[in-house]
Amino acid sequence: MSRIVVVGSINMDLVTQAPRFVGPGETILGERFLTVPGGKGANQAVAAARLGAQVALVGALGRDGFGEQLHAGLMAEHVDLTHVARLDDCASGTASITVAGGENQIIVVPGANARVTPADVEAARSLIERADAVLVQMEIPLDTVEATVRLGHRLGVPVILNPAPAQKLPTDWLKLARYVTPNQHELAILLGADPVEDFETLMRRAPCPVVLTRGGEGAWYREQGEPLHQAGFKVDVVDSTGAGDTFNAALAVFLKQGLPEAVRRACAAAALSVTKLGAQGGMPTVGELEMFLA
Ligand code: RIB
Ligand code: NA
Repeated sequence: MSRIVVVGSINMDLVTQAPRFVGPGETILGERFLTVPGGKGANQAVAAARLGAQVALVGALGRDGFGEQLHAGLMAEHVDLTHVARLDDCASGTASITVAGGENQIIVVPGANARVTPADVEAARSLIERADAVLVQMEIPLDTVEATVRLGHRLGVPVILNPAPAQKLPTDWLKLARYVTPNQHELAILLGADPVEDFETLMRRAPCPVVLTRGGEGAWYREQGEPLHQAGFKVDVVDSTGAGDTFNAALAVFLKQGLPEAVRRACAAAALSVTKLGAQGGMPTVGELEMFLA
């Protein structure tokens, strides 16, 4: 069984399914509204747990109604919440999401996620020390992301840095990540590059190994030499929210099987995740993944 530590955000997703996106000043009628658990950290933790890993999450919730529901949901998914702080004086994170034609638009209000600190990461050191992999994303403060990457590196535990939402990162600690997992757009921002440069050139220039996701087209990965391609799996897309999170979780869980196999499984898990509404709806169990791949 893989042991995974996730350092990241926990949000309540307020999801509206609509026939199309709205413009400024416009009102339209939507089709469906859902309040479902999300946040990149929590999503990656849940996806990894469903894939059979033993998972601990480092993060923060407010002591509000959303916080209660999110806490209960993560408990039900068997995620260890010992290192999830409950903060009295702030709201839990939220994401207002519109889903239209399988695509999404998202506004995140961090709330408690903005108060996950480097000290919280340090407090989880003994868990991180025993982990097979650590996952971290960028909906928490950047110094906390940096502390996670540095600690994993110091302890010899591979850190998968999912640079989403993207910003430019300093090379001196970016290079300490075992893998960085952007999409094409995020890779350009991460490296401060011109977005018109092709992604294979950018992958070669990155200071650490890159696993690049391209939605339905699958993924490209590069440790040294030429980037290699893993084709995507064909499915009917209902909601792509959380596909990247499912991908990252599967990559971490199956890393021990070698990078090409881990990327193949990550593409398959992500494909299954987009067939249902909600970030965590559709995330497969290990049994569902095996059946899909058989
Ligand atoms: O990656 C998907 C997640 O991004 C959503 O669950 C939402 O909470 C936003 O954080
Ligand atoms: Na989904």
